[in-house]
Amino acid sequence: MKKEPSAPIGVFDSGIGGLTVAQAIRQLLPQENMIYFGDTAHLPYGDKSEAAIQAYSIKIADVLLRKGCKVIVIACNSASSAAYELLKEYVRKDAHIVNVIDPMVEFITRHYAGKKVGLIGTKRTVQSGIYTHKINEGNQNISLQSLATPLLAPMIEEGFFNNQISHEIIAQYLDDPVLKNIDALVLACTHYPLIRKEINLFFDGRVDVLDSANVVATALQDYLTENNLLNKSTQTKHHFFVSDYTEAFEASTGLFFNEIVPLERHALWN
Ligand code: DGL
Repeated sequence: MKKEPSAPIGVFDSGIGGLTVAQAIRQLLPQENMIYFGDTAHLPYGDKSEAAIQAYSIKIADVLLRKGCKVIVIACNSASSAAYELLKEYVRKDAHIVNVIDPMVEFITRHYAGKKVGLIGTKRTVQSGIYTHKINEGNQNISLQSLATPLLAPMIEEGFFNNQISHEIIAQYLDDPVLKNIDALVLACTHYPLIRKEINLFFDGRVDVLDSANVVATALQDYLTENNLLNKSTQTKHHFFVSDYTEAFEASTGLFFNEIVPLERHALWN
């Protein structure tokens, strides 16, 4: 089905961490309408099975398609690793799907040939081995060293960063021998841009810290441009849905989106 340029961009994550990607999209493409879906009822995805994440992702895609989205951005590494191929198959011509992994893999392959690159993410993302697989496909002799850091997303979601507890947890993880002598570190979880400053401080500028928000927004811009789908209107509307509402979630949106946004509840299963 041919979509109109005025159709919204759908963006989803396990919770509100994907708002870091939504924020980068808003900055690069301010004329686009956006519908955000945070699956707060099933958060965190990082500990869930692949099958569970696939089931949630299909349900969310149904919601976003019913709302007429022209593109669906999977703003979550765990869901991108578990459900991207399935969603592409499921959605087919009804919308284009952008994941957060491919644009980052392309960036690493282009800039870090022959280098040692570290990666931190959820258990689901790291255990999937998807970054290693895709980076090896590029044949650039990049050695990828991955470490699961499951405490970080819940810690950030609770607003715990830039304090002594977060410094210690981050330092414990980054001290792991797996990450010795890396040239760059990929933040393979959409929550982690919020602790970028602390990670930079830990490495004292010796390591490039890479997050996917901007490369994903650029990949989306390229797709919209190439397919004549850029919205021209200056009157934009954004909607933010969550599968489970609490005031705490709403208060935390400000951390990820630079402003507090009103959340609307939308159940995934009735
Ligand atoms: N934002 C999710 C990701 O990018 C992680 C949070 C979760 O475990 O749900 O992987």
